[in-house]
Formats: sequence, C-alpha cells, structure tokens
Amino acid sequence: MEAKQLVQLAEQFGSPLYVYDAAKIQSQYNKLEKAFSRVEHLRINYAVKALSNISVLKLLKQMGSGLDTVSIQEVQLGLLAGFSPEKIIYTPNGVSMEEIEEVALLGVQINIDNLSILEQFGAKHPTTPVCIRINPHVMAGGNSNISVGHIDSKFGISIHQMPHLLRIVQNTGMHINGIHMHTGSDILDIEVFLYAAEILFETAAQFKELEFLDFGSGFKVPYKKDDIQTDVEELGKKLGKRFNAFCAEYGRDLTLTFEPGKFLVSEAGFFLAKVNVVKQTTSTVFAGIDSGFNHLIRPMLYGSHHHIENVSNPKGKERFYSVVGYICETDTFANNRRIPEIKEGDLLCFRNAGAYCFSMSSNYNSRVRPAEVLWYEGKGHLIRERETFEDIIRNQVVMEFETPATPVAVTV
Ligand SMILES: Cc1ncc(COP(=O)(O)O)c(C=O)c1O
Repeated sequence: MEAKQLVQLAEQFGSPLYVYDAAKIQSQYNKLEKAFSRVEHLRINYAVKALSNISVLKLLKQMGSGLDTVSIQEVQLGLLAGFSPEKIIYTPNGVSMEEIEEVALLGVQINIDNLSILEQFGAKHPTTPVCIRINPHVMAGGNSNISVGHIDSKFGISIHQMPHLLRIVQNTGMHINGIHMHTGSDILDIEVFLYAAEILFETAAQFKELEFLDFGSGFKVPYKKDDIQTDVEELGKKLGKRFNAFCAEYGRDLTLTFEPGKFLVSEAGFFLAKVNVVKQTTSTVFAGIDSGFNHLIRPMLYGSHHHIENVSNPKGKERFYSVVGYICETDTFANNRRIPEIKEGDLLCFRNAGAYCFSMSSNYNSRVRPAEVLWYEGKGHLIRERETFEDIIRNQVVMEFETPATPVAVTV
C-alpha cells in the first residue's frame, strides 16, 4: 500500500490503527496453492491465532481455505465466519478433556498431542476420527519460543513413544485419520522441512486408515529488504513429488495439508501510529508514539524486526531514531534505526503487522486496543471498532466499601 493511502486511512479511522491489504492475503494464498499444484488434494488451513478478525476469516473462506484452531473460541469464531466444521482442525495443547469433547461434538477434526488424552478420548469416543500430532525431534524455527518440534518441547507425541501410541490405538479401537507435525515458525531452510517430512512419512506408514498428512507451517516471510524467505515453489516441487510417491506406496490418495499463519497475513498488515514526542537525549533521539507493546508486542517478546517508515515524510533525509512506546516500562520497537526525519505529529508505519500483532494485543496500562481496517478493492473497510473506556470496565464487578459512621478509636 502507498504512504498516501495509509495517511488517509489514519485520518479517516484514527491512530493507532491496523490496516490489512486483502489483495496481499489473496496473492499469498494463490502462491502457496500454485506451488503445490502437482498434488491432487491440497488443503490450506489458515492458522486463526495469527489474526482472528472474522472478516479476515471470511476473506480466506472465500478463497477456499480451511482453518487451524487451538481453542474452542477460535473454533467458534470460525463457525461464526461460516466455515463448516469439517473445514476446521483443532490442535490444542494442554487443554482439558472437557473442551476437546465439546469441540468434537461440534464435528470439528480433533488433533491430539499427548498420550494421556489420546487414551481417554479413544476409550470414550472410539468412532470419532482423530489426528495425531507427532514430535519429530527436529530443531527448526527462528527463535526458541517458536521452535516447537525439538526434544525438549511440550508439543506433540514423541516419535520414540510410537510403540506406546500404537498400543493405545489398538486397545481402544480408535480411528486415526491424520498425522500432523509443526516444527516451528520462521524455518530458514527447506531441507530441515524435508527432513522432518521424512519422519512424518515413516510414522504415517504405520497407520492404515489415513486420510490426510498435515505438515503444519513455519514458512519464513521477509521482514526487511533482501531478507530470506521460504522458497515455497522449491518446497512445492520437492515435497509435492515426495508426497505423491508416498501416496502411491501407501495405496491411497491422501490430502496434503498445511496450516500457515504468517505466510498468509504477515506482509499484508500495516500498523500505523502517531509520534507524540521527539526526545533528544545524550545517547539517542527517541520517537515516542501513541502506542506500545500493548498493541504490538513482537519486538519485546521475540526481538522481532518490523521495518518502520515515516509515511508522513517518506522521502525525508534519514536520521537515526529509537522508536519507543508509551508503556510504563522499557517498550522499544527499534533501536537507532535509520528513518526519514521525524517530526511530532508524523505517522509511522510498521510493516509485517498482520500476524501475531493485533491477536497478541492487550489492555495493559488500561489502554484501549486499536481499530482494524481491511483494504479491499480500493477502499478501507472498518472491521473492528477502536475500543472505548466502556470496554475496559465491561466485565469489572465493582465492590462498594462503606465509610465507617464513627471513627474507629485507636488505643495505644
Ligand atoms: C500448530 C501450529 N500450526 C500452525 C502455526 C502457524 O505458524 P506460522 O504463523 O509460522 O505459519 C502455528 C504457530 O504457532 C502452530 O503452533
């Protein structure tokens, strides 16, 4: 999107503001689908956690996407957006048996990642098809918090526990219809992906009634100019070919499933915030904006890089700034970053603000969350109103404390 359009949207809808470009989401979806065109049955399940606005879910539904969910609330959002339960997979971690049963009752595909729940669920619901999330013990992902397929990770059933898993399946007579893995986000090297895929194929060969193999996600998107990104065309060629060969050996056409979040929405997002104050200190020049890690936590949580532009002065002479928020603790978006000259009142734009940005926002410091706008067919559509003070106090139950009628005597 162009700087001028973004400035206009901030004037129309206020600041801070999240803007999502629908055309970019659509082109990313098409790119992935095209990369795997040699696979007969491909299913893309958008990972709702990345950006869960119902209008974004509806846009993806229109593209033919399914959904990957991790909570019953994400399932409910998907159903509200019009997805049929068969188009939704539920991959919880550390969730109660009650919630899993509730989701299963809705007709959603269940994906189980631990032996205890697998055994309980299989014993009670042997006819409900279940997918199994394995832990392939592969270290992949751009950050320790988002590397989830390694041996110390809490996710998935270890491949070394396969004999135990097979015993549970046999004893309960349950129906396993899918095998799943997700090794982590921001995977740099497709060879790691292909290596983990071999482990998934080996595991899958031990189950006779499979319908799909779910390779999770982890596609790396670029965060800055010339940054590495997952070569999905190359992955499509290599994994597609290997998948087809596996189906031939297996004797049945399976569905190849992915569940991308970042790949579909990260680059489509722009976070706009106004500069409240430019503060020269002895060490740097701070640009303090009308936002903080309550709205965009990734830099503080993961050390993530978000490219920052001054859309009010895009061609200005570059200077060094530390961009900080208004939160009452260290709240840094960027340290000594080259940005076109900033004046108080200018609008800054943070790139890659589509995934894990609004969805991780909070009311910390009792601040309201920003509005969200979807830029669709040349027009900005408000898809979430800015919160108000009423939203902050909505669920508070206020106690009243009576002032004592007579002062309490204090004896010494
Ligand atoms: C199980 C699972 N699937 C898919 C995703 C989406 O990953 P990404 O946003 O890197 O595509 C995640 C991310 O945390 C995940 O945990």
